[in-house]
Amino acid sequence: MPLVAPSILAADFSKLGDEVRRATEAGADYIHVDVMDGFFVPNITIGPSMVKSLRPHSKLPFIAHLMITHPERHVKAFAESGSDIIEVHVEAEQELGETLRMIRGLGKKAGLAVNPPTPVQSVFPFLRDIDLLLIMSVNPGFGGQSFISDVLPKIGLAKLEMERLGSKVPVEIDGGINTETGELAARAGADILAAGTSVFKAPDMRKAIDALRACGTSKD
Ligand code: DX5
Ligand code: ZN
Repeated sequence: MPLVAPSILAADFSKLGDEVRRATEAGADYIHVDVMDGFFVPNITIGPSMVKSLRPHSKLPFIAHLMITHPERHVKAFAESGSDIIEVHVEAEQELGETLRMIRGLGKKAGLAVNPPTPVQSVFPFLRDIDLLLIMSVNPGFGGQSFISDVLPKIGLAKLEMERLGSKVPVEIDGGINTETGELAARAGADILAAGTSVFKAPDMRKAIDALRACGTSKD
């Protein structure tokens, strides 16, 4: 059964604290926070001070998805803001091994994200250094984009490599996730479904989260 991480990028930014509380009360497993710098991706979103002010609104683990260049300059601030899992991109300019060690050194879980055009093999050398693998199913930058199904085989390939290494890291998938695409992702082995639009714009958030959590569980 996959876990569900609502992405607050699709929430109402004029009342983010309430939105985080709403997702928590609707049964979310994590809160996924999209951090964009206007350079690694074209959009600008949330910084550590915002994460800090959202922190009291939920006891759920916060995933900070850093879509930024030189994440090593900011991981400390995100750790201090109350993020529990800090994800950096394999494509970002940085000393990746060092950044991952830095995140763990701050007592946080380290996540590694890979964009749709990047081969999944690029994360293989780091599988022992991470606590979460994020497979992007859209090109990052904006919510509400269509799911790119070509990325699905990456999940199985990563899991095979983990098995070979004797390491087991949960796989999160992010971008264009709804019950249909979530079903495909869960069947392909995704452990966590990050979803913005399909959760925050749903008429009934609890139903939307429950439906995502049920993905991949039917026998047919
Ligand atoms: C994309 C972000 C995603 C996005 C998902 O750049 O990393 O987390 O918010 O939003 P939806 O579910 O609307 O594609
Ligand atoms: Zn994200």
